[in-house]
Amino acid sequence: MSGARPVTAREVGRPRARVDGPLKVTGHALYAVEHGSDEGVTDPLTAWLVGAPVARGRVVRIDATEALAGDGVVAVLDHTGAHRLESVDDGELAILQDDRIHYRGQVVAVVLAETSEAAREAARLVHVHVDAEPHEADLDAADLYAPEQVNAGHETDWDDGDVAAGSTGAAVVVEHEYRTPFEHNSPMEPHAASAHWDGETLTLWDSTQAVHGVAKTLAPMLGLDVERVRVRAPYVGGGFGSKGLPHSPEMAVALAAMAAPGRWVRLAVTRQQMFALTGYRTETRSRVRLAAEPDGRLLAVEHHAVSQSSRVKEFAEQTASIARMMYAAPARSTTHRIAALDVAVPSWMRAPGEMPGAFAQEVAMDELAVACGVDPVDLRVRNEPATDPETGKPWNDRRLVECLEQGAARFGWSGRAAEPRTVVDGDWLVGTGVAAATYPTLWMPGNAARIESRAGGRYAVSIGAVDIGTGARTVLGQIAADALEVDVDAIVLAIGDTSLPAATVAGGSAGTGSWGTAIVQTAQQFRADHGTDPVPGLHTQTTTEAYPDMEGHALHSFGAVFAEVRVDRWTGEVRCSRLHGTYSVGRVVNPTTARSQLYGGLLMGLSGALHEDGVRDPRFGHVVTQDLASYHVAAHADVPPDLDVAWLEESDELATPYGGRGIGEIGIVGTAAAIANAAWHATGVRVRALPVTADRFV
Ligand code: MOS
Repeated sequence: MSGARPVTAREVGRPRARVDGPLKVTGHALYAVEHGSDEGVTDPLTAWLVGAPVARGRVVRIDATEALAGDGVVAVLDHTGAHRLESVDDGELAILQDDRIHYRGQVVAVVLAETSEAAREAARLVHVHVDAEPHEADLDAADLYAPEQVNAGHETDWDDGDVAAGSTGAAVVVEHEYRTPFEHNSPMEPHAASAHWDGETLTLWDSTQAVHGVAKTLAPMLGLDVERVRVRAPYVGGGFGSKGLPHSPEMAVALAAMAAPGRWVRLAVTRQQMFALTGYRTETRSRVRLAAEPDGRLLAVEHHAVSQSSRVKEFAEQTASIARMMYAAPARSTTHRIAALDVAVPSWMRAPGEMPGAFAQEVAMDELAVACGVDPVDLRVRNEPATDPETGKPWNDRRLVECLEQGAARFGWSGRAAEPRTVVDGDWLVGTGVAAATYPTLWMPGNAARIESRAGGRYAVSIGAVDIGTGARTVLGQIAADALEVDVDAIVLAIGDTSLPAATVAGGSAGTGSWGTAIVQTAQQFRADHGTDPVPGLHTQTTTEAYPDMEGHALHSFGAVFAEVRVDRWTGEVRCSRLHGTYSVGRVVNPTTARSQLYGGLLMGLSGALHEDGVRDPRFGHVVTQDLASYHVAAHADVPPDLDVAWLEESDELATPYGGRGIGEIGIVGTAAAIANAAWHATGVRVRALPVTADRFV
């Protein structure tokens, strides 16, 4: 460990309303395509994307004659005229460089017009002539291969012990296939950016989870020094991973700006276009095999996961990763195989890997509990590993058992009938279910912060972090206050701009931890440099190298999710009436924003459990459900009347100097399994493929 030292919590732990709440709810917070002349965005052009009409092939000709005849249409950019990129290795981002079509909806032209109406109409009038080639968009028909590694750097395959020996003579074996569908991130603010090229510098107002990440990715591709790409994201209307990495719309607006030097160009991706252009969670298929003693103690765990990637850029969901660390077992085998299809590029969606993996594992654990006649809470307690099965390291502070036990007490689990279909309330069959949750404590080095003393005992704290709606702007101020031992009102925080010190992505549930550690380290260095009563204008900047004890410990958070589900015996309508999560996430920095994060995670889990179901038509290779009318996400009416989160009182100084761990993603993990398990308990029908819909029960 080096750099920061632990800090005493004074401000950290206090409930605080988000500091930008009033600006947001009164419409004064400006998003990526809302900036105006106050910020120098004058007289912007609108860019509109034109997508490939086939899944694979070649652009023969883009006929823009009719489009260009429209009033106010300035240009139609295609592969024949766009700025040449220095590097085309990233097949997702290297748009408008050649005539290849890699998936339906890929950006093949960009219209520039004086108004959004003109741009949109002109995009409709661009005629894309193609030579279509045979494509493959069906996972069942495609060849599978083993990627070099899977997302987040996990090993593709990982074994321990002898699963065949482990399961020989096992009293109980549960083996099934579990499936999760394509899922699409649906943040309130679709992807959007305003861009300006002055011949020297490219400036972007971007809706992103990582301003520095966008600059570092785009600059070398555009042949620019990274200092010549300025990215700002003061407010972002959600991301969930879809804005964690730049996608082709950001490259499109950059190329459009370079084609119109001196003009601002605005691009708002439509909701429909998001289904092809901004990443999505791949379909997953998991074969899970659990072999156990009669009392439910595991002898062998197998999880073999299949998902799809795209041919133009690989993305491998780490679906089997949690099977490596969740429960004790003398033997286990985990593998990932993927198919490269001629489809849009998958990417991050809240808890990639853990979300679909936990659905498979935690429904399988429920099936094992039934097969053994063991209570599902007790089954998990019985399989608690003393050390991390994957690495052999001690846990930082694994408190899953307390989450299960405290959660069970809070939910009212005891006395639950083991048999399904035992509770009836009028026309409703009522059941309860549980699942465990986990998320690794990731931490990203290379974050820098700058602190400068100001008059009146105030401190300017700067870091190029992004608040995507989580409350980062609020909690970073709280962390800074404690690190400097001042009131939170004394902190003047600046974030969301590449002109501020380097910061990593608001992703991997690692934003607050990584940025907060940089702020603490810088504050402590500031005090060492300048003392506790500095004159205005003194400053210190540092960059983090290491904090969490990742060498010595396996760092994870844990949780237990309890659900009550009601299924109408005649129509099969499924409602989740109660949803509780109890979490061990280290010290909670701000109970107000943390509760919202965990509510949001649980509700996104509920949305995946009951509604979200992307459907691709393999004949054409596109997602058919490409709007929120056909791709259902949970609405307010779906929120359980009894939605409850709790957390253990704790502080984890192995993870961060203020004792907190990330909370962005764990709420979605295991939630769909808890709901599916409750639906089984209500009805006796076991659903092994999400979403859990009415047709399964009637
Ligand atoms: Mo999250 S899917 O790491 O933004």
